[in-house]
Amino acid sequence: MPSADNMKQIFSIASLVILFLSLGAAGTSLGFLQANTNNGASCRFYISHSQAMNSSLVDYNVPTCKLSIASAAIATICLALLTAIELISVSFKINVKTLIANIIQVGFFIGSILFLFITMVVVSAGWGKTCATYKNITSSGGTPRSFFNIECTGPQFFRGELLRGPYQPNGTEIITAAVCAGFGVFLTSGAFSLLFMQQLFRVRPQNQRFQSDGHEIALK
Ligand SMILES: *[C@@H]1O[C@H](CO)[C@@H](O)[C@H](O)[C@H]1NC(C)=O
Ligand SMILES: *[C@@H]1O[C@H](CO)[C@@H](O)[C@H](O)[C@H]1NC(C)=O
Repeated sequence: MPSADNMKQIFSIASLVILFLSLGAAGTSLGFLQANTNNGASCRFYISHSQAMNSSLVDYNVPTCKLSIASAAIATICLALLTAIELISVSFKINVKTLIANIIQVGFFIGSILFLFITMVVVSAGWGKTCATYKNITSSGGTPRSFFNIECTGPQFFRGELLRGPYQPNGTEIITAAVCAGFGVFLTSGAFSLLFMQQLFRVRPQNQRFQSDGHEIALK
């Protein structure tokens, strides 16, 4: 049976790998959101029927995109810091044991999970609402008066005399951004649980030996 110290090391390395994947998912989500909203300046989330029929609208619901980009950015920063903390802790076998360090680490975990969740909900509900609006208009025989007749699962084209495009937003990338945010919530929760479970190995007496081979990162 593996020793408590070995188990702790396994849990730490596993959570480092999961945090790294989670950082990748959050970064992908952030990148796609920025690319498909002109950095939040042009937002086609939550487009209503009257907005789709209004030809003088160009940028639509900008605050919604700014919110989703800000929350993906905060989550990415939290995850980058958590990954760095865990990487340093695993590489140099530094024991983070002070209460304040542990509270900060838990704060970053909760921040990542919460803000990735917000990103997932805003992006999926916002794009879903837009798609439903356009589907409603076209399926009842109408024509939206916006520049694009929104394509939910791909890039946009302007169908005039000449076909022009592709334009942003790309529906596939927006859906990917929402899926990555959701995957990030799942992964980050997993890493959090692993580091929490790791603490169970701290209560054993043989943990006194940890200085010799000693990696330990505490959420105590
Ligand atoms: C669906 O389309 C009809 C008319 O085409 C419109 O009156 C109605 O508000 C639309 N519903 C939604 C949810 O957009
Ligand atoms: C269309 O959008 C413009 C700009 O926001 C607004 O001033 C106007 O009232 C809208 N028109 C309709 C019919 O809703």
